[in-house]
Amino acid sequence: MPKNRLRLGVNVDHVATVRNARGGAVPDPVRAAHLAIAAGADGITAHLREDRRHIRDADMARLARELSKPLNFEMAATEEMIGLAEQLKPHAACLVPEKREERTTEGGLDVVGQAAALAPAIARLAAAGCRVSLFIEPDEAPIAMAAKLGAPVVELHTGTWCHAVADGHADKAEAEFQRLARGAVFAASLGLEVHAGHGLDYDTARKLAAVPAFVEFNIGHFLIGEAIFVGLATALATMRRAMDEGRAAG
Ligand code: PXP
Repeated sequence: MPKNRLRLGVNVDHVATVRNARGGAVPDPVRAAHLAIAAGADGITAHLREDRRHIRDADMARLARELSKPLNFEMAATEEMIGLAEQLKPHAACLVPEKREERTTEGGLDVVGQAAALAPAIARLAAAGCRVSLFIEPDEAPIAMAAKLGAPVVELHTGTWCHAVADGHADKAEAEFQRLARGAVFAASLGLEVHAGHGLDYDTARKLAAVPAFVEFNIGHFLIGEAIFVGLATALATMRRAMDEGRAAG
């Protein structure tokens, strides 16, 4: 295994989205998490949203209890969520912005504007033993503030780049890719561990993997969608190969 192998975190939120569409117990996101780990995932991410639209409290408790690989608890920096993380003590906590009306997390956390509120949240999560990451835009100001706030990890938001790629806007896509690559190098230069996520698919993951500053990708929607057609294990194996190929080419 190469020394700088990228980790693949699998987000199981959308297994719960399908379950909740019918209000029953299946498909079970915890079963998907176990299957993903068996298929080579390096960790599992789940986002407990304020409105519980996909993952629910009981799912998060089972994930925290049962998994044999690290759990990354994605959350808004609210009193309720920090209290839950203090109880469940997941390996990692990723702070994200959350708006009720959004379909998914739409932008990075405003770490500069919200520094005063984030500092105690980060301190409490760290005291609970969680490795804190901040989900931010790949720009110097939020990256520098994340380092100043003492978060050990940043997750750079890849959504704008992935949308530009999907929409065929080649110039914008190239500019966004360069912004991500520059951001990753800058974050690593400050001693931060650099993750990436949002909207990644096989092609974007392969391309981004070539930037050696990235240590981990967190991927959900595309993998769960692919699993409908090829099964979760095959989707993961294909993603793993894409990331390894990208890394080797970098
Ligand atoms: N990382 C973070 C912080 C996210 O908010 C999300 C979306 O929930 C992801 C990664 C995964 O994004 P996607 O589901 O588009 O792969």
